Amino acid sequence: MTSEVGRFPGNFIWGAATAAYQIEGAIDEDGKGKSIWDIFSHTPGKIEHGDTGDIACDHYHRWQEDIALMRQLHLDAYRFSIAWPRILPRGRGAVNQAGLDFYSRLVDGLLEAGITPFVTLYHWDLPQALQDEGDGWQRRGIIEDFVQYTDIVTRRLGDRVKQWTTFNEPCVFTWGGYVFGEDAPGWRKSPRAALTALHHVFLAHGAAAQVIRTNVADSQVGIVLDINVAEPASAASEDIAAAYRFDGYQNRWFLDALLRGEYPSDMLELFASELPEIRAGDMQQMCVPLDYLGINTYRRSVIAQGNELAPVNYRRVQPPGEYTHIGWEVYPKGIYDILKYVHKGYKPAKLYITENGAAFIDEVSADGRIHDERRVAYLREYLSYVQRAMSEGVPVAGYFVWSLMDNFEWAVGRDKRFGIIYVDYPTQQRIIKDSGYFYAQLIAHNR
Ligand code: FCB
Repeated sequence: MTSEVGRFPGNFIWGAATAAYQIEGAIDEDGKGKSIWDIFSHTPGKIEHGDTGDIACDHYHRWQEDIALMRQLHLDAYRFSIAWPRILPRGRGAVNQAGLDFYSRLVDGLLEAGITPFVTLYHWDLPQALQDEGDGWQRRGIIEDFVQYTDIVTRRLGDRVKQWTTFNEPCVFTWGGYVFGEDAPGWRKSPRAALTALHHVFLAHGAAAQVIRTNVADSQVGIVLDINVAEPASAASEDIAAAYRFDGYQNRWFLDALLRGEYPSDMLELFASELPEIRAGDMQQMCVPLDYLGINTYRRSVIAQGNELAPVNYRRVQPPGEYTHIGWEVYPKGIYDILKYVHKGYKPAKLYITENGAAFIDEVSADGRIHDERRVAYLREYLSYVQRAMSEGVPVAGYFVWSLMDNFEWAVGRDKRFGIIYVDYPTQQRIIKDSGYFYAQLIAHNR
């Protein structure tokens, strides 16, 4: 079955990804402070079925077993995130050594297993103390806090970790957290709140990249974006215009700022009354050279004129076809379109697919296995399109499946299973799914 995907270059990096709050559990242990997700997930009505990440996959205690599983899957690399409140329980100031020790042991374990750590500094779990002070990313001073946190982590791990990502999907945690109310801290404010937060996130990214490069010899520094090619739902001029506005808010705002040092002019006009304070030198600070750009991709966006998110005013159209358990369309060519779009428009030196995967309803069969054929087909088809983009010159250096294991899928809770390893939550037993065996075989075949 693997042959249908074909061969990737020998140095292609095969990985799997997770994030701290989604897998670790142990939310109160060894001096960890509270994060905005601890508070948000305990707010009634915010998470499906009232799930929380209190225990999640209990990875904080089971990390050795999890590394053994990664080894069985033949992974080259493991992308995970660090929980800021484990390192700085109050967000800044006193360092919690036990938190650093945990990640240091994890890194040693990975390296012993021959697995390269790809560390993300921020995957959404802001220390609650910084949320309470000046509303989190709304306060410009948070840039210095992020720089301090980055400095502490890179000094401790930088001798062994070379691959660093500053932020995961700034679009989601700012618009989702401050405007749509679906992510922590759950606000429903006007676009200004998201654009202000984003401006500070981009500046923090630029400042942190410098710190990483100072502290870590041979570092590779990047950021991870959720790019979403916007297709007009029809040839009508209002749908074409809506898709272009959506593209501006979802893609160009990020790519233009980070890779060109400017916000797109049509978007500056559209959001004129919602803009944050942009000081002299800001745009240069955020546009640092990137060693790579990480792309997370799950679906395409088919967009019509509508009344969602004024002044963007769009409407998402659901074309007929196959949808995953989380309601996202299966559209393998989308990954190719995204890679081509970014390559053509921005030419980053190197690209990784830092997340791609699917949630399906998985059940343990009578034979004790999980026969997730749909996920196997998904991986096979998406990877074929990655390969097609590469054959047309897009410099993709690796692929990370989301996710290593089933986990706490934010506001939709634990039953949206994305893993290539099944987690039986009551017992915390892990079972490699058929997709996991498929992936392992594919990796072995490519070596
Ligand atoms: C992405 C997130 C990741 C996971 C997947 C399904 O937006 O980065 O943590 O939840 O979606």
